Amino acid sequence: MADTWEALKRDCMACRGCALADTRTNVVFGDGAEDAEIMFIGEGPGQHEDEQGVPFVGKAGQLLDDMLEIIHLDRTKVYIANVVKCRPPQNRDPLNVEQDACIGFLRRQTALIRPKIIVCLGRIAAKAIIKEDFKITSEHGQWFARGGVQMTAIYHPAALLRDVSKRPETFEDLKSIQSKVRELCGHTDI
Ligand code: URA
Repeated sequence: MADTWEALKRDCMACRGCALADTRTNVVFGDGAEDAEIMFIGEGPGQHEDEQGVPFVGKAGQLLDDMLEIIHLDRTKVYIANVVKCRPPQNRDPLNVEQDACIGFLRRQTALIRPKIIVCLGRIAAKAIIKEDFKITSEHGQWFARGGVQMTAIYHPAALLRDVSKRPETFEDLKSIQSKVRELCGHTDI
């Protein structure tokens, strides 16, 4: 039977597929337009996301909103999700076993959305989605075609908060994303 958003949300909200289910406050399913042409994918919820059940609502999320605004995007035009849907304790990197347990939900989200462009936010998402040996310092901003979808990775907004010297490169990457959206995305006017 064809998958539906309703079935996917029900499965995801009830998931106890890894130990993160024991410590979460909320499952952080995703946010944005379910028919978006562009998806942004982070690594996993932090404290504020866990408390509110919405991705990228803390400081890094505010910066992500500012980054979207630079290229005339906002949460009504894109879809935002994470590799893992529950908060790793102390914001540690999600373990491979946790990513493996959760990645099916992201695959189902992607299959329902059918985006033209996927932007990975940071190393963890790029490794999970573009290629296992992705090197964020040398390969951010490059484009990869996977199954008819154009994919790229940029520095994670939390990394840009820690190290402002990375921001000029990210500005160039955002401009490249804007060009790609203009080239490929018929109903996203930016
Ligand atoms: N960092 C992420 O990778 N995802 C969020 O939702 C919040 C912070």
